[in-house]
Amino acid sequence: MKKIIVTGGAGFIGSHLVKKLIDNGAEKILVIDDLSTGKAENIKDFEEVEFLNKKIEEIDNLAEVFNNFEFCYHLAAGVGVQYIMENLSKSLLTNIEGTHKVFEACKKNKIPVLITSTSEIYGTSEEKEWSEETKSLIGPTTKLRWSYAASKMIDEFLALSEFEEGSLNPIVVRLFNIIGPNQLPDFGMVVPKFIDAALNDEPITIHGDGSQSRSFTWVEDVVEYFIKLAEMKAYGEIFNIGQTEEITIKELAELIIKTVKSDSEIIYKDHEEIFGKKFEDPKRRTPNIDKIVEYTGIKPSKNIESMIKEIVQNNK
Ligand SMILES: NC(=O)c1ccc[n+]([C@@H]2O[C@H](COP(=O)([O-])OP(=O)(O)OC[C@H]3O[C@@H](n4cnc5c(N)ncnc54)[C@H](O)[C@@H]3O)[C@@H](O)[C@H]2O)c1
Repeated sequence: MKKIIVTGGAGFIGSHLVKKLIDNGAEKILVIDDLSTGKAENIKDFEEVEFLNKKIEEIDNLAEVFNNFEFCYHLAAGVGVQYIMENLSKSLLTNIEGTHKVFEACKKNKIPVLITSTSEIYGTSEEKEWSEETKSLIGPTTKLRWSYAASKMIDEFLALSEFEEGSLNPIVVRLFNIIGPNQLPDFGMVVPKFIDAALNDEPITIHGDGSQSRSFTWVEDVVEYFIKLAEMKAYGEIFNIGQTEEITIKELAELIIKTVKSDSEIIYKDHEEIFGKKFEDPKRRTPNIDKIVEYTGIKPSKNIESMIKEIVQNNK
């Protein structure tokens, strides 16, 4: 594919995707991004990129804008727990209205679309591993943290309904804590926040007691999966994209301090103190990735130590 749309292409994952698409021979990439959490400098060196600095839900003639493109990667969204909690209704509307508009424009132009859903939609499921069919256990609507999960679920339902009705060719990926170079510390993402604190010998603040575990996935693996799934026309399918190696948040802080050789101390704060009563956090979050590995033949490439080392080197 030579002519591709990437919404949210100035963001963390989007800009890695743009680079990889160009490396693979893309001739024209339309990036639509309002720079709410992205940076224009992430894509400024690519002459193949046409940049539309706009909020996706405010573009009236989106179907015209999409004319003559072959595929759309739709990444634009309110992202990150901290950002969501600070921009509740705005994030919801971007994730629902924005995605709806993108689907309509794709339908009019008969363009397939890949959408980026999230591990958040499994909620606080206590299943050991979360496969694509695991039941969701998102919390009550009073815990506003789950609004992000609910909005992404609506996106998934809409995509799969349109597929069922034969009107859209969507691919759904559920991402589990993606990390890598150029991820900003500003919006509550744990790895860049801890690394930023460690490099400045500032205290690293853990939310809760640090025993909650997560699994982290390398951004370059993620964009390789995206491109492969698009090439394979995996329409109407859902895939977890993540890694199965778990690490507690306390271990993560210690690993970062050791890698950076930092003098940072670790401090603990209750979730309620930071986000108030409308918050709760899953204790574990580990994907079953059999489906994506079998389908694409691609395995995650790095362990957590090497990922942290590479990000730290990139930040120095
Ligand atoms: N990073 C992760 O661990 C992770 C995990 C699960 C899902 N995701 C999903 O992956 C996608 C990309 O996330 P990311 O980590 O690169 O975050 P990011 O914040 O770096 O990227 C999102 C981009 O979308 C842009 N954007 C936001 N609202 C917009 C709007 N209304 N109109 C146009 N542009 C808009 C932002 O400016 C930003 O550049 C998102 O859909 C996110 O929900 C990410």
